[in-house]
Amino acid sequence: MRYDSITDAIGNTPLVRIDPAVHGLRSIDLYAKLEMLSPFGSVKDRTAWNMARPELAAAVESGSQIVELSSGNTAKALAVIAGMHGLRFKSVTNRMRIPEIKELLLLLGAEIEELPGQSECLDPTNTEDPLTLFHQALSGSDSPLLHTDQYFNPRNIQAHAAGTGPEIITDLGGAPDWFIACVGTAGSSTGVATVLRAHDPSVRVVGLVAAKSDFIPGIRTRDEVHEVGLFDPRTYDSIEEVDSGEAIDGMVTLIRRCGMLAGPTGGAAYFGALRHLREIDATLTERKTAVFIVCDRVESYLSYIRHRRPELLGGTRARHAIGDLTAAEVAAAPAISVQDARPWIDAVRPLVIDLRSTFAYSALHMAGAVNIVDEIFGELLRGGLPFSLKQPVLLACPVGEQSARYAALLTRMGHPDCRSLTGGIVAWRDAGAPLERD
Ligand SMILES: Cc1ncc(COP(=O)(O)O)c(C=O)c1O
Repeated sequence: MRYDSITDAIGNTPLVRIDPAVHGLRSIDLYAKLEMLSPFGSVKDRTAWNMARPELAAAVESGSQIVELSSGNTAKALAVIAGMHGLRFKSVTNRMRIPEIKELLLLLGAEIEELPGQSECLDPTNTEDPLTLFHQALSGSDSPLLHTDQYFNPRNIQAHAAGTGPEIITDLGGAPDWFIACVGTAGSSTGVATVLRAHDPSVRVVGLVAAKSDFIPGIRTRDEVHEVGLFDPRTYDSIEEVDSGEAIDGMVTLIRRCGMLAGPTGGAAYFGALRHLREIDATLTERKTAVFIVCDRVESYLSYIRHRRPELLGGTRARHAIGDLTAAEVAAAPAISVQDARPWIDAVRPLVIDLRSTFAYSALHMAGAVNIVDEIFGELLRGGLPFSLKQPVLLACPVGEQSARYAALLTRMGHPDCRSLTGGIVAWRDAGAPLERD
């Protein structure tokens, strides 16, 4: 294969059958569409190139900077494409949670601007959410910008309707019976689903999202997915949740048993596909076919894996980790309402731990609160309790979900008086309780 430009090598990715001895399905041939083998490393290469390509000549002419709301694969691909054309690229993102992806983006020449998450509850007098601020900054910018706008740009969907979907049909000699994909911007699943259904309306499409309050890098939770401009629930016959543990289990099987060095969303897609198909498989009398997407590779996620499954990287499994909590433990976590918390704070002077980002904390916080960002608090607890059992503790996060998990963990560790602030800093703010700024 000879190419004039690396961008000509985007797409035409392999469709590889998973060994039935690994997946165990009797009547379904399961195929992985290996988007991780695209030159910049992911399914988003097609999206980035299709969005940027028609604008590049004008951008070069005006010296525009490419900007995109992305903390991962779209940013990686755009950074490379920008560099190849002598343009600058800026990635605007909520908190960057995977350090090696941030470092890789910097290595690729990206500028990074981190915005706080909308749910982090900043200054209550500022009603503008971070996305609005981003769009204001775009329109108010003095220098020319090329905003590729992956969450709204129809060329995101089109990249997959023109490439990924038709490739699957060609390779299988028809549409599969099921198509299973993780949903981030919804571009790849929508583009592929549209083409498959046009070929055969009976194709069933399963969209996978991360479980509520969980984090699988690259995809959205069931609640978050509705904020995406390209997302249309009618694209999917069902939307199903995968949690980070299941994604890692699926990923390890793809890596160790199938030779596919997939990242967590590839693992989520494999796990979600099998869970969906297993029961159906038992009822089938003729052969069927299913395809799932492996979006990217594992190497960028080592810290994510170390955090959740240290034993996979030669470490020892943490004795105290929120990933090990049961739903019942989290549901039973000690909590306190804003109304009850105020006299309780005055009476027992608990250690107030604010689990939000440093950005959100420094904008506004409860008096006397210390800021330990949730992931760092998780790391601290792996070593044991960092405060006395006699010290009452109040945990606060944006809406009371993360703090409930940590309150459950502290309870499991034997802490007799730790509580999660119900409704989090948002509820505290909405009740008019005092917040301060340094
Ligand atoms: C690792 C990973 N998996 C899956 C997806 C989902 O793809 P899409 O944005 O097309 O829904 C993304 C999107 O950024 C991703 O980065």
